Amino acid sequence: MSPLTIGEALAGAAETLRSRGIDTARLDAEVLLAFVLNTSRLDLHVNSREVLPDGIWHGYNTLIERRAGREPVAYITGEKEFMSLAFYVDRNVLVPRPETEILVEWIIEKIRERPGFSTRRPVIMDVGTGSGSIAVSLAKYVSRAEVWAVDISEKALDTACRNARTHKVDDRISFLQSDLLTGIPAGLKGRVDFMAANLPYIPSREIPHLMAEVAGFEPYIALNGGGDGLDLYRKLIPQAREVLHTCGWLGMEVGAAQAEKLAPLLSERIWGESAVVLKDYTGVDRFVVVQKKN
Ligand SMILES: C[S@@+](CC[C@H](N)C(=O)[O-])C[C@H]1O[C@@H](n2cnc3c(N)ncnc32)[C@H](O)[C@@H]1O
Repeated sequence: MSPLTIGEALAGAAETLRSRGIDTARLDAEVLLAFVLNTSRLDLHVNSREVLPDGIWHGYNTLIERRAGREPVAYITGEKEFMSLAFYVDRNVLVPRPETEILVEWIIEKIRERPGFSTRRPVIMDVGTGSGSIAVSLAKYVSRAEVWAVDISEKALDTACRNARTHKVDDRISFLQSDLLTGIPAGLKGRVDFMAANLPYIPSREIPHLMAEVAGFEPYIALNGGGDGLDLYRKLIPQAREVLHTCGWLGMEVGAAQAEKLAPLLSERIWGESAVVLKDYTGVDRFVVVQKKN
């Protein structure tokens, strides 16, 4: 076989992925070739007539086969961008989703609005931290914050810790293995200003029917929200009340049609009428944010 050019290799790989039902075939083929060549997608276009360097084809083909088997690109490359930061990801953690950035941005905005935080460090907690995407981004963009990252999975916490070190915020994040808030230090009670939670919210029976990329590769413990998907939020909400500062905020990411189901869990005596629902980029009610009144 005569040597392939970059353009030909890409076209062949994209066709393989397309024929195996991958909707993002061309994009994935480009991302994976850029990864193998340690270059950018733009460079692939600029150099599309150059011959693929020796020994690259076999490795590239292996990655294309993994993608054809529905493995998410982020697990293949070990990387996902979130809040313009590169996060290491592996199969112990959920791949961070772009919509979760909406919750992070909302918290950053709220902190900027509150003049009190010019004299006092905001205390932020990320419950179900996974790769640490929320905790690490908040530590990075809110430079004075004291951040707590909680997860039940030790392996997820290892990954989150690795990301905190990469982004040089490990000195401001405390990592804690805990079932929701049951294991948090007593001294933290009543001190947290912002609690972000992207807990598992998929109803158990729906998990086998999710996209193969999710059902077959992402950790079950990061997906399974029990019967109606809200089991973990049902437990978290009363626990959060103990941990939040008066006027502290709790922001929760939920699935489509779940936001309204949280309302009965948020007693007016404690949360007032503070609930705000934020939509994701597709217009779905994706986040419920509430403020503790007393
Ligand atoms: C949907 S993932 C979210 C990961 C990350 N926050 C993100 O947005 O990409 C949910 C995370 O919650 C963790 N988790 C599941 N049950 C938990 C529990 N009872 N207590 C604490 N963390 C839990 C999982 O290990 C997983 O890392």
